[in-house]
Amino acid sequence: MAMIKRIGIMTGGGDCPGLNAVIRAVAKRAMFEHGWEVFGIEDGYEGLIKPRFRRLEAADVSGILTLGGTILGTSNKSDPYAYIDPRGASNARRDVSKQVIRNVREKGLDALILIGGDGTMATAARLSRDGLKIIGVPKTIDNDLSGTEITFGFDTAVGVATEAIDRLHTTAQSHHRIMIVEVMGRRAGWIALYAGTAGGGDIILIPEIPYTLKAVAAKVNFRRKIGKKFSLVVVAEGAKPRGGEVVVKRRIEASPDPIRLGGVGFVLGDQLERLTGQEARAVVLGHLQRGGSPTAADRILATQLGAEAICLAARGEFGRMVAVRNGKMSSVSLDVPGKGPRLVPIHHPLIAAARAVGTSFGDE
Ligand code: F6P
Repeated sequence: MAMIKRIGIMTGGGDCPGLNAVIRAVAKRAMFEHGWEVFGIEDGYEGLIKPRFRRLEAADVSGILTLGGTILGTSNKSDPYAYIDPRGASNARRDVSKQVIRNVREKGLDALILIGGDGTMATAARLSRDGLKIIGVPKTIDNDLSGTEITFGFDTAVGVATEAIDRLHTTAQSHHRIMIVEVMGRRAGWIALYAGTAGGGDIILIPEIPYTLKAVAAKVNFRRKIGKKFSLVVVAEGAKPRGGEVVVKRRIEASPDPIRLGGVGFVLGDQLERLTGQEARAVVLGHLQRGGSPTAADRILATQLGAEAICLAARGEFGRMVAVRNGKMSSVSLDVPGKGPRLVPIHHPLIAAARAVGTSFGDE
């Protein structure tokens, strides 16, 4: 058993539906079951650096289960080991991790619950090695975090993307167009695969299976030949042609992972129009997939993960990330998620099922 009186909770990286459900579960279990004080850390690691801590009462975490975003704010820019001060004069990176550790100790926080993706967990692992008591909670709409079988936010993102595909289906059909829907997924194509299958996409392009324009155009032409005058393409932002590159939208220098993708849908639309002679339109769903209320499945998963994090803290199992393994609540070392993304296996049963109903992955 760990001697804990006061904990801190932080949300880091991109926001994600279900973050507030985790905050609620963590805070309620800590307060009601253990009588611990809970402090919210604002705006990700930025709040640990500055510091910006605020005490959370039960009332602060009541009524937030269904809320999108995070009541604590978040940031995907502030790495304490390579920090660029947003208000500083220079763009030089500094190691301010000792300042973070000092802030945590001065505030009397006995343990930290850090909710985030691979970047947040990689930093959490370093802080843990440097002496802080940390439990991680996995988060990303992309569902690509190593160590856990599923992340909350994914189900909501798939729902939003599926609804968009459904709506675009009818307009594609009416105008006899190629309609391209670009979804999130930098390194892994989970959202494209799931939403594409649920929405009946004719072509699904994911980072794990580089496509050829020839195969994509051939599928569109084949459909036209058999009387299907429209085609729906679902493309992950990180999809790329065989031997080609991803489409980069911008660089955010202060971010530990500075590349922001976006625009492959528009590039593909122009190329397909030229190759097939059929009119094309592209829609980028972007941050719509991250906003709004979480689905029931995401609320449940977030609540389970948050409640489990406090069990780990009470047992003194620090340096771990709560995780779903074999369908059950479990945990892995904080080092695991930073080691690389959990990609869609190219022999995933859903890929086989989608191919069986005629979906092309642009690789034939
Ligand atoms: O990792 C989550 C994610 O939503 C990715 O799918 C996307 O590429 C990225 O974050 C976008 O980041 P930002 O919010 O900085 O634009």
